[in-house]
Amino acid sequence: MGGAQAGGPVLIASNRGPVSFTEEDDGRLSAKRGGGGMVSGLSAVADESDMLWVCAALSDGDRLAARAAPGGLLDRDQTGAGMAVRMLDIPPAVFQRAYNAVANSTLWFVHHMLYDTPTRPSFGPSFGREWEAFRRYNEMFAAALADAASARANGTPRAVIQDYHLCLAPRMLADRAPGIPIAHFSHTPWAPPDYYRLLPDDVGREVLAGILGADHAGFLCQRWADAFVDCCEAFLGATVDSGRGQVSYGDHITSIGVHPLGVDAVQLRERAAERDVLARMAALAGATTGKQLIVRVDRTELSKNIVRGLEAYRELLRTRPEWHRKVVHFAFAYPSRHDLPEYREYTAAVQRMARQIEDEFAEPGWDPLLLEVDDDYARSLAACRLADVMLINPIRDGMNLVAKEGPILSDHGCALVLSTEAGAAAELGDNALLVNPFDVSQTARALHEALAMRADERKRRSAALAAAAAAMPPSRWFSDQLAALDRLAVSQARLAGRQPRAGLGAG
Ligand code: G6P
Repeated sequence: MGGAQAGGPVLIASNRGPVSFTEEDDGRLSAKRGGGGMVSGLSAVADESDMLWVCAALSDGDRLAARAAPGGLLDRDQTGAGMAVRMLDIPPAVFQRAYNAVANSTLWFVHHMLYDTPTRPSFGPSFGREWEAFRRYNEMFAAALADAASARANGTPRAVIQDYHLCLAPRMLADRAPGIPIAHFSHTPWAPPDYYRLLPDDVGREVLAGILGADHAGFLCQRWADAFVDCCEAFLGATVDSGRGQVSYGDHITSIGVHPLGVDAVQLRERAAERDVLARMAALAGATTGKQLIVRVDRTELSKNIVRGLEAYRELLRTRPEWHRKVVHFAFAYPSRHDLPEYREYTAAVQRMARQIEDEFAEPGWDPLLLEVDDDYARSLAACRLADVMLINPIRDGMNLVAKEGPILSDHGCALVLSTEAGAAAELGDNALLVNPFDVSQTARALHEALAMRADERKRRSAALAAAAAAMPPSRWFSDQLAALDRLAVSQARLAGRQPRAGLGAG
């Protein structure tokens, strides 16, 4: 690693970028800024540094924008995202295999422990082709980052690579452009060794060695960082220095960091005070007046455990009839990854369970459940402002930002029913009602406890949850990772005659 300078150029890489383009009827391309904490947090940092974000062109509009711009490079003015963006026009067959087959159907399933193992996974000849495509996709990102680094004259650029889609890219970039400080961040959980073992042996090792190509590997909570380190030890024979938080593999040392992404509370509350949110609150008020409100907001991902959440609500209504006509549940389950059949089936299962609840309990003047499957951000904010109880029960989740946003948004304080398997439980556990996501009866009891909680107790807990949720806003989360890279650069600079990095076979 060379001597990085604070405030030097920053190169970000992620599959989904900060902006997406749509072709309008008149042929013009309109840019829409991507939502989410990471984009807004990074935009704050972007103002201070020379920043480029490398991402895949996902939509037809993106591909048109990428092809129209020289080298796919869109400047700040074209993106409206506060930074330049390079969109990679990845061949569709490569993208489909890398994104759907490997990233979302394999790595996502492993890290969230989602396989129904009597039948899946099954790694046959087609997986070989898919893995090759995944390598190619990662190489395209590494090449783009190396190009961008060599184009920067002022200061050593730092590369910050995001998530499981790009787990091979850190090592590929290190090989192409030695001396560039590289960080990788995992936004998902990490599977423990006994589950990680499901991956073909060489694939499992390549993923770990890929991330260890980075100088700093970041995770959302200690539990995921520990699982990663355990896998490095078990499958690569890497040397772990727990005291220093470092993993050595071959001649290279990677520092391991825990960076629990939180929420910019001021910005979120400001957004939730806008007119569209107030209009949604007024529209929802009819259903909630005089009743307590349980809210959940998720992308319909298999890991979010929406069906068991609804089963728990059904059990609450069956076992505690005193809540009839006194409670309403808003379940917002927004579309996600509909290219995968499992996701489409899961959405159908959520809808079936919702119909059963309505059939069993709805009566004139009381609709116990409102399931919405079309994405409406303003309505989500409105529901969180009105919520008395937030239900967040994922099977496994890297963090779960809704668990943090709910208490920040809630107007009069909300109780939080939270899965022990969400990364957020590490910071919010003391003031949440923790549940085992597979234990529907325990979840039903926790919902009852949350509804019955005294108002002052709920307020007290909600304020503590909101404070914990705001402790690490995205801008700080990001600058901490850059600071970790800069510290490493300083200590590395003291070491003369650095050896080349380890190859894949080393260990
Ligand atoms: C979730 C995960 C992120 C991941 C994202 C990808 O939000 O927490 O780790 O990057 O999904 O979603 P996408 O819609 O791009 O497949």
